[in-house]
Amino acid sequence: MCQQVAMNNTTTFDYLIIGSGAAGLFAANRLAEHGRVAIINKDVFSESNTWYAQGGIAGVTDTDDSIEEHISDTLRAGAGLCHEDIVHEIISRGGRIIRELAELGTPFDTEGEQLHLTREAAHSHRRIAHAKDATGKAVGEALLKPVIDNANITCFQRHMVVDVITARHLGRYVQGPDRCLGVYLLTPKGEVVTIAARHTILATGGAGKVYLYTSNPHVATGDGIAMAWRAGCPVMNLEFTQFHPTCLFSPGGSTELLTEALRGEGAYLTDAHGDRFMPGYDERAELAPRDIVARAVDHEMKKQGCDHMYLDARPLGKKKIETQFPNILKRLRQTGIDMCNEPVPIVPAAHYMCGGVQTDVAGRTPINGLHVIGEAACTGLHGANRLASNSLLECLVMAELCAESIKAQAEVPLPRLPEWDASGVEPETERVQIKQNWEEIRTTMSNYVGIVRSDERLRRARRRLDMIREEITSYYWQHPIGRDLIELRNLSLIAELIVRSAQKRKESRGLHYSTDYPNLLPNACDTILTPDPL
Ligand code: FAD
Ligand code: SIN
Repeated sequence: MCQQVAMNNTTTFDYLIIGSGAAGLFAANRLAEHGRVAIINKDVFSESNTWYAQGGIAGVTDTDDSIEEHISDTLRAGAGLCHEDIVHEIISRGGRIIRELAELGTPFDTEGEQLHLTREAAHSHRRIAHAKDATGKAVGEALLKPVIDNANITCFQRHMVVDVITARHLGRYVQGPDRCLGVYLLTPKGEVVTIAARHTILATGGAGKVYLYTSNPHVATGDGIAMAWRAGCPVMNLEFTQFHPTCLFSPGGSTELLTEALRGEGAYLTDAHGDRFMPGYDERAELAPRDIVARAVDHEMKKQGCDHMYLDARPLGKKKIETQFPNILKRLRQTGIDMCNEPVPIVPAAHYMCGGVQTDVAGRTPINGLHVIGEAACTGLHGANRLASNSLLECLVMAELCAESIKAQAEVPLPRLPEWDASGVEPETERVQIKQNWEEIRTTMSNYVGIVRSDERLRRARRRLDMIREEITSYYWQHPIGRDLIELRNLSLIAELIVRSAQKRKESRGLHYSTDYPNLLPNACDTILTPDPL
């Protein structure tokens, strides 16, 4: 049964999973056969990037399609930086994973006996299995049910992990690789408790909230990446933030996605005069890879001095819109827009982190017992630009392989862990600094580290972020911690790591475009940052 348990000061589990998106839920299901699992999320189940996914999950299920073609589309989108072995390992499992999700009860759209497959940009075939335009929710619910029903899994909602605990952090002498022993956890009552575990899996998702305009829900603050970095794990390719070209424009900031499947089914991008501009940028027009489409929208907005461009879905016809995209249609109607009859104003917004903690395909890190899976990890699958709908697949394959690798490892006894030390902490008198720093980070990142970058913009961003980080660090250790302060601390670190990664790349590749280095270097290299030793 999924239950809340009363925690004493140190509670022990075999496997601790942080995050209940696709990666965390799938791993929990696999590990529960072998030991006691805790799955923790800082909000409710429905708040994760997974639940918001619209388009679908990519995989080869059609006999006219082939794994080789899916691999070659992935490599082409990745602009020379994908790790081919990883691409092969993940993509070749796509068809089987989709079938398994269907068996678990995911209500994928069908045509007769077959799955209905939609198309997204840069895919050479229709190969996206989808549940109308709300695939993430459908997949999430199918994965959640067996978790809730499983007596070996304990769920903690609205509990936030503050940091992972490693042997080296505790000042224990460690020969060879360090070891993760558990986490500090902030409860809804504001207490920090200790949880010990033989294996800790960070499935904490991305960090879209580092930008002002994002398709991500508010949980996406890069906590797992920040925690892994503080524990000593290298990060890879963080400069590659994917901006989705079509998010609903709203003057106060945009968070609503308009799935790429709309363009896959025939919707056009236009300017305010109704003129299409994509054919002038790429022969694949609206179906060019996302980096190209997002840059083109950004360029047209700047050239024409407009706040937004338009997505015109009318070519699909009312019936197709109503049957395949009912949720988007409904939400837009609530804002007064009827996409059956009029074009929808859109802007690009931060959507997906191609970079993350450097891991292998099973989520291994240099720290024994610490694993990172899903969007928080960087395996090399996406290279410099993710192919649409490859990420849910990556989450599930990584979760499965992570569970297999953990099960194969011998059990090691856990030492006693110290309690959280809150001595010397003073109650705060005002909270304005937290709000100010949040806004400043997100504005700085949007203005200086967005779709188009330059050396000067990155330098300016770095100077401001350094100052903000210093303020946050001192504030953090002086005052009681709450969710917003923990997130702010993590977000400020992620922002700094993104800028440092962008500064290291002296070329324009995939999602990273710099006006100072507009060309591609002959050799494609990952950007790896390694934390200073503790
Ligand atoms: P998430 O699903 O984001 O889950 C993260 C979990 O970690 C959450 O439960 C959160 O509460 C928890 N968490 C984070 N920090 C802490 C902490 N400190 N303590 C406790 N819990 C914590 N991909 C596709 O393949 N196809 C699509 O169609 C698609 N559409 C998308 C549409 C939108 C609007 C968005 C935002 C993304 C979309 N993506 C899509 C990307 C895909 O959804 C994500 O990459 C994927 O779902 C990430 O899953 P995850 O399990 O790694 O993380
Ligand atoms: C979308 O539906 O456009 C998002 C797909 C993705 O991000 O993979």
